[in-house]
Amino acid sequence: MQAALNSWRLQPAGLACWAPRAGSGAARLCCRRGAPACSASSSRRSSSSSSSSSSSSSSSSSSSSSSSTDAASPKEQPQQQQQEAGSGVSIAFRGRALRAPRGAKLRSALLEAGLTPHNGRAQLINCRGLGTCGTCAVEIRGEVEPPAWTAAERLRLHFPPHGPPGNGKLRLACQVSCQGDLEVVKYSGFWGQGAERQGAVGAGDVGPPPLGRLEFILDRSKRDGGGTGEERM
Ligand code: FES
Repeated sequence: MQAALNSWRLQPAGLACWAPRAGSGAARLCCRRGAPACSASSSRRSSSSSSSSSSSSSSSSSSSSSSSTDAASPKEQPQQQQQEAGSGVSIAFRGRALRAPRGAKLRSALLEAGLTPHNGRAQLINCRGLGTCGTCAVEIRGEVEPPAWTAAERLRLHFPPHGPPGNGKLRLACQVSCQGDLEVVKYSGFWGQGAERQGAVGAGDVGPPPLGRLEFILDRSKRDGGGTGEERM
């Protein structure tokens, strides 16, 4: 028996099973760990295995929750992109493409993007959106608001050098708001009254508007915290 005990004590700690001795708090050698007859070992095994299984299930639930989070992320991204894409309109203008908030004034959206609906010196000499100078006249394909001439447009686009028949296709960029994707054409002449389409904008023609923020002083939607037109494609 003593020889057997010595043999157990010589076992590495990992292979021996020690159980508490009743009433003394001391430990007694129980058996070789893993022996099927050992109740202490098997109860510890089962508690350890259940804790490990619960830990593994918790880890698996955590991993499944993490994987479900990971799985949700890629699904959320396209929705986010759709929302972002749906929040504005695209405007094609003289070889450039820009994005603007839906409802932005067309003149403001172009100026914010470093472009302009005015030709040459009309960039400096214009009414800043009052609807009286007629220099922001452009042809618009797409949905704008209002869909037909305003009273100001009717007056100005019938005042020389604007007039029939060329005026029929024109709108004043300062009087309309962007409601859908637009294609905007600018024609030649100080007032944009000519027959030739203006070509693509060069890199040197893109820049801030001459009067900075004062360019938008008559744009009520910008004063009220409306669209900025700053988003570019
Ligand atoms: S800026 Fe003068 S009419 Fe549009």
